[in-house]
Amino acid sequence: MAGALVAIFYSPFSILAWLLHPGRISGFPAVQSRSYPRGMRILSGIQPSGVLHLGNYFGMMRPAIELQEKGEAFYFIADYHSMTSLFDPAERRQNTLDVALDFLACGLDPKRTVFFRQSDVPEVTELTWLLSTVTPKGLLERATSYKDKVAKGIPPSHGLFTYPVLMAADILIYDSNIVPVGRDQKQHVEMTRDIAIKFNEQYGETFVIPEPQIREEVAVVPGTDGQKMSKSYGNTIEIFGEEKATRKKIMGIVMDSRTPQEPKPDADKNLAIQLLKLVAPSNFATVWEDRLRVGGLGYGDLKKALFQCYWDYFAEARKKRAELVANPDYVQKVLRDGAAKARTQAREVLKRARKKCGLE
Ligand code: TRP
Repeated sequence: MAGALVAIFYSPFSILAWLLHPGRISGFPAVQSRSYPRGMRILSGIQPSGVLHLGNYFGMMRPAIELQEKGEAFYFIADYHSMTSLFDPAERRQNTLDVALDFLACGLDPKRTVFFRQSDVPEVTELTWLLSTVTPKGLLERATSYKDKVAKGIPPSHGLFTYPVLMAADILIYDSNIVPVGRDQKQHVEMTRDIAIKFNEQYGETFVIPEPQIREEVAVVPGTDGQKMSKSYGNTIEIFGEEKATRKKIMGIVMDSRTPQEPKPDADKNLAIQLLKLVAPSNFATVWEDRLRVGGLGYGDLKKALFQCYWDYFAEARKKRAELVANPDYVQKVLRDGAAKARTQAREVLKRARKKCGLE
């Protein structure tokens, strides 16, 4: 509400922009225009790696949620994959639940999207074995993500090495057409294609060959220190952070030491302005940018406005999340129902593959 008051203070255009701002109602802006034929299956997996932040939201969650309008989306929480780098059972359980809550709160619609936990479809591990027998070891050796992870200190287990084969099974077992992923996962989807083609050559047409859809960096979300927002830099602003702590983080965003009076010709590079552009109507953010450029606006006031816009932007989703937390049976039911649907499809493809290679 305070966001509205500030808007009214500024200009009638800001009021209009605020009223029209889709985030005000749904917590995320309207759908993009790209569309796929009916029945196009879109599949993606999300690592349960902890509390999600603005970088995850604008980079991955919002595009994924928007895509549910474009085809038949299957989204799962990749808990089997998390076993290659996370070794605490309680943490895995909690993270898995948190991801489910965050996605449902932010607008994932379980009536449209098949939303489930990877390990609730154990058929995928059997398919992993079938695929592993046609996967050249050299292909896995070329995976850059394996090398990166080992360099970061993650133990080089067999599971970590064959991570791409499990990922191929995830994709192929649902006859997926489109796999929306970040740039870092492109190689994995290409490996999936190679593995599927190899299997089809060896045993006859079995799998649909999927296409990666690489998310362009829509907006690089800067963290509180100006580097890209990332958990590993400790510069994140959580989507559902506690009010006081998040206010403190926002007030702590790194600024320079110029006085409020000084004009700032580089106002567009200011971190608070960049973040404001994501969580406020564009006219509103522009007004603040102009004020900063001209001089006379203190960083403290700018950050206060940013906090308020951030808080309002996620207000609806925050309310929804609290309702979901109070209703754990509902969340478990969503995941169970999702798994049942996913499993029906998975069984069909697994049977097809087993027949082709002479297991049945
Ligand atoms: N490896 C993906 C990541 O780290 C998660 C994932 C697992 C995935 N299985 C998938 C993504 C299948 C797309 C399709 O982000």
